[in-house]
Amino acid sequence: MGNHVSVLLDESIEMLGIKPDGIYVDMTLGRGGHSSKILEKLTTGHLYCFDLDEEAIKESRERLEKISSSFTIIHDNFKSAKEDLLNLGVKEVDGIIMDLGVSSPQFDEAERGFSYRYDAPLDMRMDQNQRKSAKTIVNEYDFETLLKVFREYGEDRYSYQIASAIVKERAKKEIATTSELVEIIKRNKPAKELAKKGHPAKQIFQALRIETNDEMKNLEEALDKMPSLLKKGGVYSIITFHSIEDRIVKEKFRLLTKENISRTDPSSLYAESHIDFVSVTKKPIVPSEEEMEANNRAHSAKLRGIKRKE
Ligand SMILES: C[S@@+](CC[C@H](N)C(=O)[O-])C[C@H]1O[C@@H](n2cnc3c(N)ncnc32)[C@H](O)[C@@H]1O
Repeated sequence: MGNHVSVLLDESIEMLGIKPDGIYVDMTLGRGGHSSKILEKLTTGHLYCFDLDEEAIKESRERLEKISSSFTIIHDNFKSAKEDLLNLGVKEVDGIIMDLGVSSPQFDEAERGFSYRYDAPLDMRMDQNQRKSAKTIVNEYDFETLLKVFREYGEDRYSYQIASAIVKERAKKEIATTSELVEIIKRNKPAKELAKKGHPAKQIFQALRIETNDEMKNLEEALDKMPSLLKKGGVYSIITFHSIEDRIVKEKFRLLTKENISRTDPSSLYAESHIDFVSVTKKPIVPSEEEMEANNRAHSAKLRGIKRKE
């Protein structure tokens, strides 16, 4: 079984204030770290879990079954979680958790193509059934769009040089593997940049992963829809790992917790919810020094939460 050390596990679960008879939603099941903790606390309650990744679902199902049968796993994009829950007759819930990004097993399995550490087909799809992959992006996006993806999601200083080189290389031959892409990135960064700490392909790979999986759009869609499912006193807790993700969460939560919001605002956020929330975290919660030292993934993590007014 692939190992995944959950980040801010206790803090995010504590924030939910699990009631044994409550209905909870884990939007990002992964290897079931958060889901297990929730399930352990339920008696007559129920847990609904979402993930796009078939392997994650298979492994987590086995893990959760050892705890209890009070859970349902839904293999779908969390952007459709609200519709899926309504179809199952779930109209309101006591808590929602999102632990964004990629799980360690996704990175560690070479053939998934997420990592610059292994030579593998350029893939990076969380959902193995989707068409768009890192390979289609690298080979099919026009120069401008590629550049925008690298700049916006990767913040790589050499985005222009790398996007130009990709366009040139792919005219000769399709770029099919992680190693081919790593080589192009390395050739287009100066020696002083290559000598720095950290892998030279890290930011471009991150940008491609975000674009492959439409991570920011999915997050925005989920945030537009899910808060309206929360019962009074219900909590929405989110762990982010990227500054843009955190900005999206911060902004949506700010709008939802704003006093005297306009009831006639046409944006879906207001149109759909018409409800008021309070912040649970005035400032985001970040991992302790110990957690950061023990888990590399924890460095950029931030936890935010809102609660529907009682
Ligand atoms: C950081 S991991 C979650 C780890 C989990 N909390 C744990 O402790 O084991 C994120 C998971 O979310 C899934 N995921 C990412 N975007 C998704 C989306 N739009 N819909 C459903 N699942 C998604 C990924 O496949 C991955 O398994």
